[in-house]
Amino acid sequence: MQMKARKIAEEERLVIRNYLDVDHREEMMRLVRQGLSAERKWLHCKYLYDQRGSELFDQICQTEEYYPTRTEMDILGRYAGEMMDFFNLRGGDLVEIGSGANTKIRFLLDSLPPRARARLRYVPFDISETALVDSARELLDIYPELSVLGLVADYTRHLAAIPEGRKLLVFFGSSLGNFDETTSLEFLRGVAAAMSRQDRFLLGLDMVKSVEIIEAAYNDAQGVTRRFTKNLLANLNRELSGDFDLDLFEHHAFFNPQRECMEMHLVARQPVTCRLADLGLEVRFAQGESIHAEISQKYSRERANGLFRRAGLAPARWFSDERGWFSLVELTRAD
Ligand code: TRP
Repeated sequence: MQMKARKIAEEERLVIRNYLDVDHREEMMRLVRQGLSAERKWLHCKYLYDQRGSELFDQICQTEEYYPTRTEMDILGRYAGEMMDFFNLRGGDLVEIGSGANTKIRFLLDSLPPRARARLRYVPFDISETALVDSARELLDIYPELSVLGLVADYTRHLAAIPEGRKLLVFFGSSLGNFDETTSLEFLRGVAAAMSRQDRFLLGLDMVKSVEIIEAAYNDAQGVTRRFTKNLLANLNRELSGDFDLDLFEHHAFFNPQRECMEMHLVARQPVTCRLADLGLEVRFAQGESIHAEISQKYSRERANGLFRRAGLAPARWFSDERGWFSLVELTRAD
């Protein structure tokens, strides 16, 4: 598929293309109206990550209880060399879907000698143009032999923007778990479609473990997570002229054992009516009524393998910590 892109930068070692084509404000207005008018209220999890939300999420990653980021970095520290053996003899693209900051990719890049890095093109794929350009320039400073092709795009819609050619794709974190099952399958099929037989895909998965450990990760003692979830309402107040009183809502995060996922909700402490002036919308809450803000699927190998099979992918190697809390699984196309 040919995709339209605006060219943002074209320098010797840096090219940036922008594929974004939707009006974000219009989309926000539509999704918020839809979610808050539904019988069981929900809000799209992307509205957790405004500037303040992204800062709070960074703080969550540093709490004692939030193990996923720390565990994934341990795995990267230990196995980066093996993960990157793909580039030992031949070059290609290292595509990072949802690239954000450079913390994790640096483990991979550092594991290669400079002459191997010179054969590689780093291809960050992210929805935030400013974050992408800043991180790309930082990497170019650190690695003088590297070249970068940045794709400013939405990974739920623009995976076809990934260029053809030999590549290792990576999707760090446990973001796959934030999609519902249909969307995860669509996403994995989209990645599979961007791969040829020789290519590899390294995918982060948070694994099933004891309920106490999982629930604590989303209910830290310092209350950072509570502030993070409530910030969603502050974001709506600011962007859509709302009057949500943050004190009247409580953060409620629990493990759903049937679906093996965490559910994050905001629950009204008392009956309350809120308005979003920009939408001309009035929203009534009964006491205890909740807004569903995010799920975070926890995977068994069995569940993950089922998903891979349906997406046309096959696991080649599992990289995990000793306790098996988190995995980076290396996938190939199944055919
Ligand atoms: N994607 C992260 C996760 O699933 C986000 C997250 C951490 C989160 N804590 C949260 C989302 C609390 C909502 C509420 O681990």
